Amino acid sequence: MCHHGNTGASYIWPPHCQILNDNSYCSPPHISNSGSYPPNSQKNFALMANSPPAITGLLNGSVGFCRSSAAQGAGTIYVLSTISTSSIEEVAEAAPNAIKWFQLYIYKDRNVTLNLVSRAERAGFKALVLTVDAPLFGDRRLDIKNKFSLPSHLRLGNFEGELSTKINNAESGSGLNEYVMSLFDASVTWNDIKWLKSITKLPLVLKGILTPQDALLAIEYGAAAIVVSNHGARQIDTIPATIEALSEITKAVNGRIEIYMDGGVRQGVDVLKALALGAKMVFVGRPMLWGCATVDDAARDMIQHESYYSHL
Ligand SMILES: Cc1cc2nc3c(=O)[nH]c(=O)nc-3n(C[C@H](O)[C@H](O)[C@H](O)COP(=O)(O)O)c2cc1C
Repeated sequence: MCHHGNTGASYIWPPHCQILNDNSYCSPPHISNSGSYPPNSQKNFALMANSPPAITGLLNGSVGFCRSSAAQGAGTIYVLSTISTSSIEEVAEAAPNAIKWFQLYIYKDRNVTLNLVSRAERAGFKALVLTVDAPLFGDRRLDIKNKFSLPSHLRLGNFEGELSTKINNAESGSGLNEYVMSLFDASVTWNDIKWLKSITKLPLVLKGILTPQDALLAIEYGAAAIVVSNHGARQIDTIPATIEALSEITKAVNGRIEIYMDGGVRQGVDVLKALALGAKMVFVGRPMLWGCATVDDAARDMIQHESYYSHL
């Protein structure tokens, strides 16, 4: 498993441990599983959920379904990516009882986004997760070097025609970057949050918040929750690890909306640290991918294990 800034930071946090400081009064942190999001739900959620990764079909044709059925089995949340190789409807059919959220990118052609939103609503998805840190993609040098594109037997499951297959070719560098640059709307602003809220009744979660200032704007513009995320450190070099950004954001938000975190969550103690710093729930990305890509059952076991932590 690769280690990036997020995982490293979780290993070292907290950075200011004091030695020889009479710690005899310390007690273990108390954790209450009182997650109540979305607010209108009666159900208490597990503390760990599935981050939305794109094009999971590259790893193994059934990874998307493995993740959704594992989430269903564990009663946790599954987030489907806009640019997944499985469609909204396929996932809804494969895991009808999973709590499903839909991760959204805003396309230049707003009808594309409108269509995704209404299909997610129809298919019973419970929230929209707008990824706000990727209006355009970072220079993923390996993707450029390798001329990354989707093999011809795979396509983006949520679309037809060019929107589905443009990613199967790389003209000058990375096919993924070319897809994003030509189709995603890089001009989105906070006003587009208003637009999004006007076209859906689903709660809106903003994923990719890293500063208190942006967290406050998220509240001002009506987000139901935020995910403190740096896209698994895949977007911008030298940004802070999410565990480092979390506590300042928690202070600024001051309980007004729920805060979730992803990035580098690899073991129970990472979950505990995030909860201690104010997150209501964490998401995991790569561990679920690697688990499902390797052995279907291993991933199920892994999420059961996560579920164990969620009920402590
Ligand atoms: C292969 C891969 C594809 C991803 N695709 C998306 C995506 O389509 N949309 C998105 O919001 N985040 C995407 N992410 C970021 C994850 O949702 C999540 O923020 C990140 O993986 C969390 O970090 P972790 O992998 O350390 O748990 C992707 C991550 C990976 C590893």
